[in-house]
Amino acid sequence: MKLIYTGKTKDVYELEDGNYLLKFKDDCTGENGVFDPGANSVGLTICGVGKAGLRLTKFFFEKLRAQGIPTHYIDANIDEATMTVKPATVFGQGLEVICRYRAVGSFLRRYGKYVEEGQPLDAFVEVTLKDDGRGDPPIIDDALDMLGILTLQEYQVLKDLTKQIGAVVKEELAKKGLELYDIKFEFGRIGEDGQIALIDEISGGNMRAYKNGVCAEPLELEQLMLEE
Ligand SMILES: Nc1ncnc2c1ncn2[C@@H]1O[C@H](COP(=O)(O)OP(=O)(O)O)[C@@H](O)[C@H]1O
Ligand SMILES: [Mg+2]
Repeated sequence: MKLIYTGKTKDVYELEDGNYLLKFKDDCTGENGVFDPGANSVGLTICGVGKAGLRLTKFFFEKLRAQGIPTHYIDANIDEATMTVKPATVFGQGLEVICRYRAVGSFLRRYGKYVEEGQPLDAFVEVTLKDDGRGDPPIIDDALDMLGILTLQEYQVLKDLTKQIGAVVKEELAKKGLELYDIKFEFGRIGEDGQIALIDEISGGNMRAYKNGVCAEPLELEQLMLEE
């Protein structure tokens, strides 16, 4: 197999059959040892976080598959910390889609004059460009359309899928006494027909979830979610 991309938290390999293999690493995004799912750099390394992130990702992608929601997922090997997926073509050079249930993180930093920290938001969907050098700028539907990244119809599909998937995650977390504040997804086109599908991962590193008013670290979140 061939290494085709070295990411912040995963390495991507191309398999002989054309599928991709994602290798989960023990790195988390953040700064100076503090976890931040919105950060553009590796801020800390936690032993075991790769496998735990993969276990949670497997849990959610299998749940989504059972509900008929399109994703890139094929299967996962926890011991090896790898996941086999269908290759996707991303929109432009990649987008991040955020679903917000409470005002924290970059939303609060940007709009803090108008919202209180933790103020409820109604599954508010926001898209940013994956552009580390420019700090992942937020982008609206008209700009995505104008720049040829996504049509307005595709934007609607993306937004609807985001709310649908966010609701699944939120409900599963709630069963374990965790409240989802926000979550980041990635989407791409897969297969011959270029169907819009969820790609990448759904782990503790992509979301903020609170337990008794305290934000859970990725590993803690994964342990809480996966314990029997
Ligand atoms: N099915 C897929 N097809 C193509 N690229 C994918 C797929 N799933 C995930 N990716 C990409 O693989 C990379 C995973 O590595 P990661 O460490 O998360 O990267 P990054 O530093 O860009 O966040 C991401 O850039 C993500 O967009
Ligand atoms: Mg990533």
